[in-house]
Amino acid sequence: MSVETLRLRQQRLELIDQRLLPQQFEYVACSSAAEVAQAIRAMVVRGAPAIGCAAAYGLALEAIRVQDRPAAERSAAMATAFARLAASRPTAINLFWALERVRRRWNALGEGNGGEAAGELLAEAQAIHREDEAANRRLGEHGARLLADGVRVLTHCNAGALATAGHGTALGIIRSARDAGKRVSVIAGETRPFLQGARLTAWELLQEQIPVTLITDSMAGHLMSRGEVDAVIVGADRVAANGDIANKIGTYMLAVLAERHRLPFYVAAPLSTIDRSVASGSDIPIEERPREEVLGFRDLRWAPPEVPVRNPAFDVTPAALVSALVTERGVVEWPDTSKIAAIF
Ligand code: MRU
Repeated sequence: MSVETLRLRQQRLELIDQRLLPQQFEYVACSSAAEVAQAIRAMVVRGAPAIGCAAAYGLALEAIRVQDRPAAERSAAMATAFARLAASRPTAINLFWALERVRRRWNALGEGNGGEAAGELLAEAQAIHREDEAANRRLGEHGARLLADGVRVLTHCNAGALATAGHGTALGIIRSARDAGKRVSVIAGETRPFLQGARLTAWELLQEQIPVTLITDSMAGHLMSRGEVDAVIVGADRVAANGDIANKIGTYMLAVLAERHRLPFYVAAPLSTIDRSVASGSDIPIEERPREEVLGFRDLRWAPPEVPVRNPAFDVTPAALVSALVTERGVVEWPDTSKIAAIF
């Protein structure tokens, strides 16, 4: 049983506070769209599918919060909620996908009863939550077939249960391979500057006794050159129509290294991560995060405070470097525009 990243308790959304892991395991409770938007912005919850699920719950919580107000006030509150959540983070398309899905449901409800509308939105958020976990399990089974017994997989960031409604995408493939009786070991890149690999992937895999070794990001090429890696598997924040992939900063570097060492580079993502409205990766907005994240971590600072800093949180890997895109509908080898269109 993997971790419960998001859960609903007494009409509040509880989120594991991923800023505190692995030192502390605590839930943060949200009861409005504003609180959920703030939790997404502050990285309490992160990972593309988990952000989408949280945003859907945020809208449902807002509908519950204003259910007894007059119709015009309810509509105004919901419009603000959609806008706030949409502004929380820019790159992961699952956020906008989930908001659109709930917005369609809301628009179809008209001005009727506030309590009923809130119930409908809550049901929609719960459906998004359930469907994401189910998609990850199917995706995991497809991806597991790509892995041989004894495989050593390098992964980046955290594309696990913590980043989704459950099971995970990249780590979902690893879990499914383990469940199918294969021996799998993982090399986790620490993922500077927010350390999702060191703090979250390492923790998540240790919970389930899946063998994991932590490295700093700059060690990946060395291990590949020594024959210590058999495949790279990562998640995605947004897949463009042509198969270009936006994922955590550092992913592109791994894809180039994988090509150099003739290693398969697999991207695991549900259909909700594919954005066919952007033609290629150069059209994907890349989040720039605060400079403090590069200057140090938590209360520790190691760089001169006045040094200029860049902190793009994601990069784009061209489709030409992607050996396969693994979705809940199956494995798309060497994805391109026509192969991606065909899975929809
Ligand atoms: O900044 P984060 O932690 O939200 O970035 C997460 C990633 O880049 C993940 O690889 C991606 O969202 C896929 S999660 C299944």
